[in-house]
Amino acid sequence: MTEAPPLTPDFDVWPVGRRPVSATVAGSDVVVTWEDGIASRFDFWWLIDNSPMPEHVNRTTREPTLDLSALPDDFHATAATVEAGGGLYVTWSHGVSASRYHPGWLAAHAYDAPAGGGFDADDRPRPVTWDAAAMAEPPSFDGSRILEDDAALEAWLTAVAVYGFGRLRGVPVEPGTVERVARRIGTVRETNFGRVFDVRSKVDPDSNAYTALELTPHVDLPTREYQPGLQILHCLENSASGGEAMMVDGFRLAEHLAAEEPGTYRILSTERFTFQNRAKTSDYRWLSPVIVLDPATGSPTEVRIAGFLRGPLALPAERVAPAYRALRRVFALSRDPRFRIAYGYRPGDLVLFDNRRLLHGRAAFDPAAGARWLQGIYLERDELHSCLRILRRRRRLAAGTD
Ligand SMILES: [Fe+2]
Repeated sequence: MTEAPPLTPDFDVWPVGRRPVSATVAGSDVVVTWEDGIASRFDFWWLIDNSPMPEHVNRTTREPTLDLSALPDDFHATAATVEAGGGLYVTWSHGVSASRYHPGWLAAHAYDAPAGGGFDADDRPRPVTWDAAAMAEPPSFDGSRILEDDAALEAWLTAVAVYGFGRLRGVPVEPGTVERVARRIGTVRETNFGRVFDVRSKVDPDSNAYTALELTPHVDLPTREYQPGLQILHCLENSASGGEAMMVDGFRLAEHLAAEEPGTYRILSTERFTFQNRAKTSDYRWLSPVIVLDPATGSPTEVRIAGFLRGPLALPAERVAPAYRALRRVFALSRDPRFRIAYGYRPGDLVLFDNRRLLHGRAAFDPAAGARWLQGIYLERDELHSCLRILRRRRRLAAGTD
């Protein structure tokens, strides 16, 4: 046994808090007892699956190289001890090389110990729903140094994870900035509207977005199997009269319907509605409930509400009228001032929002009375959560560990 601290199977840092004092093999587990007397079980398969050793993990990528299915059914630990430095040392049957586990990593990942704490497989901030009574303006942040300032980025992205949106003010008013900001977060999702799309009136528009028409509250691209998780809109110019922007929390609408109108909620969360675009050069379609529920929790994971991006309903005859009643009801609620906030765009404003949760819209504007130019871009929610984790990890690394 070497005295070097054990490796971890990742690139993160795991400060040692509780130290293990003893370890033993019991049944199909290694049982580790910590200095506070609490015991944690670790299943043999779980331990070998998370072994950080070079024989089991590619140390360059930290991805496992061990094929679990290649091990025999009676694979097991033959012995377990705690090293002087607190590492867990486990020897294995069938000639598999021994594993050493970092005590900080092991404590943080102890899955059956109370307050084992540290690692949360689902660490996404919990959404807090809002309506007009709870929110008057988008949560707003100084965006003048967003391209350099990690603390500002973290605060802004956290607000988006919790409330579904966040606004930066004072972002440089320069075409293309929206992509530079997006790349601070992660990889861009390109679509048929381009990598960066310009929201302003066009001569031969392929979307109502590119006209001066009112846009009722909607999500973008529900016509896709996977609608973009995030959207950014950056205002470069706004001297037109009208065109006020609005936002609605789709999760709040779902909450309201579940509590007050369960029949409507059931239809919207179970019937498959038709979403379709009608452009000259593309024909995207997807069938989905309007309110999509997480099968594990039953909570909404996304909403698909867009009056102008739907195709003909294709349901059994007796279910068409109830489906339309439910659809009209959710459209009406999405326009109800109780659920909607309205705000103006100033040049330099940049709004990031969860396109699978929030509905956005705008009032009609008069293009003859001035110009209105927004640039937009899409990303996925994954990019936001990964970025937040890396920002937190950088802070931990900067704080230093043992
Ligand atoms: Fe839109």
